[in-house]
Amino acid sequence: MPRAAVAFALPRADFVAARDDLFAAGYEPLHAETADDLERLLGNRDDVRVAILDGENDIDLVLEMYAILHEDGHNIPALILMPPMTLGRMSLGGRSDSTDEYFSRPFTAESLRWRIDAMLIRSGDVPVQEPVVVDQIVAAHAMAAHAVAAHAMAPAAPIVEALDESQRGRLVIVFNPKGGVGKTTVSINMAATLQRKKHFRVLLVDCDAVTGHVAPSLGLPELRTLAEAWLWDHQKGIAEEAIAQVAAPHSPGLDILVLSATPFHTEVLVPARVAAAIAAARAAYDFVILDLHPDFGPLNLAIFELADRIIVPVTPDVPCMLAAIQFRDVAAALELRDRLLLVINRADSGISPANVERAIGLPTLARIRSAGSLFYRASDSGISAVETAPGSKAVGDIDGLVDRLLTALSSGEHGGLGLQPRAGIVGSVRALFGRRAD
Ligand SMILES: Nc1ncnc2c1ncn2[C@@H]1O[C@H](COP(=O)(O)OP(=O)(O)O)[C@@H](O)[C@H]1O
Ligand SMILES: [Mg+2]
Repeated sequence: MPRAAVAFALPRADFVAARDDLFAAGYEPLHAETADDLERLLGNRDDVRVAILDGENDIDLVLEMYAILHEDGHNIPALILMPPMTLGRMSLGGRSDSTDEYFSRPFTAESLRWRIDAMLIRSGDVPVQEPVVVDQIVAAHAMAAHAVAAHAMAPAAPIVEALDESQRGRLVIVFNPKGGVGKTTVSINMAATLQRKKHFRVLLVDCDAVTGHVAPSLGLPELRTLAEAWLWDHQKGIAEEAIAQVAAPHSPGLDILVLSATPFHTEVLVPARVAAAIAAARAAYDFVILDLHPDFGPLNLAIFELADRIIVPVTPDVPCMLAAIQFRDVAAALELRDRLLLVINRADSGISPANVERAIGLPTLARIRSAGSLFYRASDSGISAVETAPGSKAVGDIDGLVDRLLTALSSGEHGGLGLQPRAGIVGSVRALFGRRAD
């Protein structure tokens, strides 16, 4: 397969630093310093799939380059470097109309490569796949060999253990089929609250291989993922490691597991086996929190049914509410509807919370207010908002969420939070388009 060319319009030092890794990943990075360079490049080459632009310095230059990417029949997605604070203020959450992406410093060549991979997938382009990549992943994790070898000496653990229901940890999924609604924000801060304030043993799992950022948001950028661990196990012909062995300790009482850092080579994550492994992990924790990728693929369908509760974050806007209604109906078809709990995120913006609740027709667990750049800055600094801004009102909202969740779980039944919405499903779509808050 031919290499996809990447126009690289960051300063030369960045180009030099990233060039070899991008090349090893199967791309052909081509430096373009000026708008003329870029124009010439696109005139000479018809295989440029992505352009990396520098929004840190000269915004006029970015605009000019961006226009060139869309002239003369071109429609090339841009990956744009932005200062972290600007990115925080851009309110990109939930955008689905564009294949452009943004990132900020610090970044690694590897992170750039994954972003480009993901952009090509989203834009429908065939991503570059080099046969050597599997070997590279295995080689990169050779340092973990001693742990794997030690494990191989032990008798292989069964993937599913019989669990005493009263002993096992509770499993809480955070899901909405729409992106940018607060799933990761809720997952991270809920996990941190359960660990730090309630002193539970918590496993937080990032199941989002495309846009997941749980681990870097908690200051752990380069974790060994479950896909990498199992790939290694398969190559060595040994039993798949249990999740508690692969998860990385973050701080006392909180372990983090990332299913995969890339959408490629996830064949090893057979949905039924992942679900069984996650089910087994409940024995080692009080809480297992899963931040899911927004889709209805086989992995999510296998995981949904493990949930004691499924938290559905919703922002008060029509597209997000429609996504929640769609999920409510899917959950009803899967006979899981009574496990769903609504969290209205950014509750003080857009459609009024009462109308959101009425339209969606699920019991409300909590409302979280808009917190400006609080959550964004926290994840940028690698520390949860629970720690960076313990006194903030939004963190107080998370405390309320956790208290109600514990109450719901201790009731032993699904649903029944005493917050049943006034209207049922019937007419909810009509209600959705009812009055908006001013
Ligand atoms: N209540 C809130 N106030 C301010 N910013 C928020 C809030 N909830 C989420 N965000 C920000 O919105 C963006 C998208 O949230 P995220 O949790 O990543 O969504 P998802 O996981 O559903 O894609 C992030 O930059 C996050 O920091
Ligand atoms: Mg997310």
